[in-house]
Amino acid sequence: MPVDQVTFVLSEALPEPAMGLLEASGQPVRFVKSMMPEELAGLSGPLVLLTRLTETIDQRVITSNDVIGVSNYAAGVDNIDLAAARDLKCRIGHTPNVLTDDTADIAMLLMLSASRRFQEGTEDVRTGKFTGWKPNYLLGKSLTGAKLGLVGSGRIATAVARRASAFEMEVEYCSVRNEAKSAGETALDVIARKTSFDEVVANSDFVSIHVPLVAETHHLFNSRVFSHMRRSAILINTARGPIVSEADLIEALHHREIAGAGLDVFEFEPAIDERLLALKNVVVLPHLGSATVETRAKMSEICAQNALAIAVQGPMRAEVKL
Ligand code: DGY
Repeated sequence: MPVDQVTFVLSEALPEPAMGLLEASGQPVRFVKSMMPEELAGLSGPLVLLTRLTETIDQRVITSNDVIGVSNYAAGVDNIDLAAARDLKCRIGHTPNVLTDDTADIAMLLMLSASRRFQEGTEDVRTGKFTGWKPNYLLGKSLTGAKLGLVGSGRIATAVARRASAFEMEVEYCSVRNEAKSAGETALDVIARKTSFDEVVANSDFVSIHVPLVAETHHLFNSRVFSHMRRSAILINTARGPIVSEADLIEALHHREIAGAGLDVFEFEPAIDERLLALKNVVVLPHLGSATVETRAKMSEICAQNALAIAVQGPMRAEVKL
C-alpha cells in the first residue's frame, strides 16, 4: 500500500525494526529534541508522532501542527489526552499484549524480592555484613500458600495469576472499573476467585496492581486503603506510579501499617522520594516491566506499523478506541 505524504516524528530512535520500517516507507523521518509544540511547529505536516510514555501529548501538542496520529511506544496511554485526540480526530496507536509476560515476570520478581529480603541480603553480602548462616537472620515470608490479591482482571493480571499458581499461592482478583467480562477475566476465573476491591485489600498477603492509570484509578491506593490492609501485606506496583499515593505509602510503611512494597513505577517518575529509598522494606526497579530485547523489538514493530497505518489511513495493529 503506498504511503501518503507524512512526516514521522520521534525524539529518540526506537530499537529495530521500527527505524528500518519507517525508512523503507520513503517518507521523511525527523527527530525533535522533545515533543513540545514549539519543536513540532516548524515541521512540514501532516505529522505522525512516535512517542514514549514519558512524553505528554496534550491538546497543545496535537494542535501545534497538523498532527494526524500518535503511535505510542507503550501499552499504556495515560501520557496522552485522549479526549483532546478524539475531539481533534487524531488517531492513537499503542503496543499492548506483547509485554504481558515480561511485566508479569517483574511482578513475581518484586514479590519474591520483597518477601525474601533480596535487597537487604545483597547489600549485606556486598558490604561484608554477612558473617555466616544464623537461625534468625533475614527471615522473610513464604510465597507458597500465601494469598495474592490482584487488582485488575486483564492480560497481565491473568499472567501473574498463572505464575502465582505455579508457586502454589491462593489467588483472588477484583475488577476496579465497571467493565463487561473480558476474555482475560474468563481465563482468570479458572485459576482465581473473583471478589471485591475491599476484600482483596483486606485479605491479601500480597496485593498486586494491574489496572491502567485513568481518573478513577488515580490514588486508588491511599491512606484509607492502606489502613485496611494486613500489617503483613506487601504491595506490588508494576502498572503506573500515580495509582498509589506515594506520600501515603511512605506513611503506611513508616508506621508499619503494611509490611513492604515492590515498586517498578513511581508517582513522580523518574524522581523518587528519598524517604521511600531509605526504607529497607521497599524493593525498587526503574520501570523495567517491558525491558527485554525480545519485547522491545515486538513493541517497536507494532509502533512502526501503527504509524504507517495512520499514514495510509489503514487499520492499525492496535488502535485506542476514542
Ligand atoms: C507500557 O508499555 O505501558 C509499559 O509501562 C512500558 O514498560
